Amino acid sequence: MIKKIWNGRFKNVSNSKVEKFSSSLDIDKSLYSFDIRGSIAHVEMLSKQKIISISDKQKITKALNQAKKEIEKGTFNFATELEDIHMNIEHAITKKIGNFGKKIHTARSRNDQVVTDVKLYIKEIAGNLRKNLVALQKNIIKNSEKNLELIIPFYTHLQSAQPILLSHYLLAFFEMFLRDINRIDGAMYRLDENPLGSCAGAGTSFNIDRFSTTKKLNFRIPTRNSLDSVSDRDFIVDSIYCCSMIMMHLSRFCEDLIIWNSSEFGFIKIADGYTTGSSIMPQKKNPDILELIRGKCGTVYGNLINILTNLKGLPLSYNRDLQEDKFPLFSSLKIANECVDIFKDLLDSIKFDNVSIQRSLNLGFLTATDLGDYLTRKGLAFRDAHHITGKIIAYCEKNNRNLDEIKIEEFKKFSKLINKDVYKFISIDSSVSSRNSYGGTSRTNVKKMITEYKKILSKL
Ligand code: ARG
Repeated sequence: MIKKIWNGRFKNVSNSKVEKFSSSLDIDKSLYSFDIRGSIAHVEMLSKQKIISISDKQKITKALNQAKKEIEKGTFNFATELEDIHMNIEHAITKKIGNFGKKIHTARSRNDQVVTDVKLYIKEIAGNLRKNLVALQKNIIKNSEKNLELIIPFYTHLQSAQPILLSHYLLAFFEMFLRDINRIDGAMYRLDENPLGSCAGAGTSFNIDRFSTTKKLNFRIPTRNSLDSVSDRDFIVDSIYCCSMIMMHLSRFCEDLIIWNSSEFGFIKIADGYTTGSSIMPQKKNPDILELIRGKCGTVYGNLINILTNLKGLPLSYNRDLQEDKFPLFSSLKIANECVDIFKDLLDSIKFDNVSIQRSLNLGFLTATDLGDYLTRKGLAFRDAHHITGKIIAYCEKNNRNLDEIKIEEFKKFSKLINKDVYKFISIDSSVSSRNSYGGTSRTNVKKMITEYKKILSKL
């Protein structure tokens, strides 16, 4: 039986069922490299401040580096009864170098240690997520440039609305993911405060130098209140919220692609590698990857509610409830990272089917608004123009004809203001190119935006 680090006042503490229940090792194992980094910064500071000797520092640092190698090689002896990664590493150090090892915990508590580790972890993993998002943005720009000629309908209420450039649709997501990147940056700025040295929650009487560990660990500043440092997990909520927003945006993108991939729409073909067959229906090519991303969004939302509920009404400062913060955090970052990464490849694999898209452009009177605008330009109030256009659409529906198949004499029955020039206004192409307002779908506009987005991308 391993002697507990905290067992001074306990008589009989070994109960394997309880030990297993309270251990977080399976989950917080993945913090090992951050824990070791934090410990090295800590002992270097302790020695600089003459709280421990240089030789103790050297021995401890060497043992920490050895432990890291062992964990990476798979030869480290993890023990569940040592509760968590922090105590496993400390125990290993003490076993290697004897009692000097225990000095590692001078002027430190697991309460500030765990927050330091988790913050370092988030900085690294959220950094990967940001990189993946930038890679996705590049693919969005690439596909927007490649498909500048392609016009598609957009939908409101899933009913045909107006024609737009496919690039305009894709770039809508560029904007969303750009806000997601900014959101990560904001969250990382707030998180970037070093809690190490807050100890159990009140600080310490040792003459530590928190600015030195802050510099070593590459944090922006040390935290200013030791109690806050060990109590709050708002930075975890922030991180999961960032993941939730990314997943929400991805899930909407996926949903559109799933609809576009249906036989009824047929707008796109997804590369075989991102689809699966059915065990019974041989004709199937299902967009499983898109569906999985959409589904995993739910897991991340669940994680967000998990951590918020954990924190609600929790008395200050540290409570063991907080040990449960890691699962939702690790799970969310992993899911978001994986989904962004795979989605960016999938997006690149999509082929657009001109024939099906063209067919859909003939449905749903996509240029009805342009006819209304035409009448408004001829002097009618838009409301009246809207009413007359509505009547014309009803006439088209009754006669099973498209707007551009209506003869000028027929148009004139609805309004004398309609002349031959109307056909130019109600063509799909001119509808798109006429929407030149800032942020609109015209090709000139979209091209300008692509130039602007490329500039933004180069600075991300
Ligand atoms: N494994 C613990 C956690 O993740 C470390 C902190 C333990 N602190 C304590 N006072 N029991 O929260």
